[in-house]
Amino acid sequence: MSGDLNGRVAIVTGAASGIGKATALLFAELGARVAIVDRDETAAINAKEEIERAVPGAKLIVSQCDVSNEAQVERTVQETCARFGGLDIVVNNAGLMVFKPLDRHTLEDWNRVLSVDLLGAFLFIKQAFKVMRKGGAIVNVSSVHAVETTPLVAAYAAAKAALVSLTHSASIEGKPKGIRANCILPGAVDTPMLWNNPNIKDGLEVIHQSDVGKPEQIAEVIAFLASDAAGFVQGAAVSVDGGRLSHL
Ligand SMILES: NC(=O)c1ccc[n+]([C@@H]2O[C@H](COP(=O)([O-])OP(=O)(O)OC[C@H]3O[C@@H](n4cnc5c(N)ncnc54)[C@H](O)[C@@H]3O)[C@@H](O)[C@H]2O)c1
Repeated sequence: MSGDLNGRVAIVTGAASGIGKATALLFAELGARVAIVDRDETAAINAKEEIERAVPGAKLIVSQCDVSNEAQVERTVQETCARFGGLDIVVNNAGLMVFKPLDRHTLEDWNRVLSVDLLGAFLFIKQAFKVMRKGGAIVNVSSVHAVETTPLVAAYAAAKAALVSLTHSASIEGKPKGIRANCILPGAVDTPMLWNNPNIKDGLEVIHQSDVGKPEQIAEVIAFLASDAAGFVQGAAVSVDGGRLSHL
């Protein structure tokens, strides 16, 4: 089991589904108070109810927010601080993909992916730096696509690579504030995003069952990085891919 998060206040973006939902659930089990942040409010409310059934007494709020909208990000941080009295952890997990050949990515496609997968993390880090308590932690959810990639996901791979770089910047500037920033690079994880991937549906990208992780396994690493147990882990990019990146 990951480190203790008792009494910590956490924002988890994209928490209505997949890795984000598993992270919010584990955080609640570990005693954190959690803001379930997602642009899909209905799914976020369903996730909150599911977590409340699993963890009676869990302290949760739903904050509907498009992470690429600065005003909404500011409002979510304010709501969380007002409700729970501060902020200790931000997990920048919300993400999306566009599947097109590079020469058919439109400017709109490119901007949509970059604005959620990269800008969203920047906006939350910016707000977090203003209010986060000493001992705080930021965990950015990048991807193995930051390092190695496949066809048709140029904007996604670029955004995820830049998110690793943003993690380094946040780590350097966060350290004097007592804030750690790290990122994880998940491989294939059993969530709607994986199975909606047309590269996988069409067999362009073949994934062996043993290379598919569970959202709960990713959540464990996020919780560790968010906890004091990772107090000396700063600016790291941690692969959580079942060894997929090691294959020749
Ligand atoms: N599933 C995988 O195989 C895999 C692998 C590597 C990295 N990742 C990364 O993990 C993260 C979570 O992915 P997942 O597989 O759980 O996906 P998912 O599709 O199950 O969940 C993503 C969530 O993000 C939300 N979201 C999307 N755009 C948003 C926005 N603009 N504002 C707020 N919320 C928004 C969605 O509503 C959804 O609830 C993503 O950043 C993804 O890139 C996933």
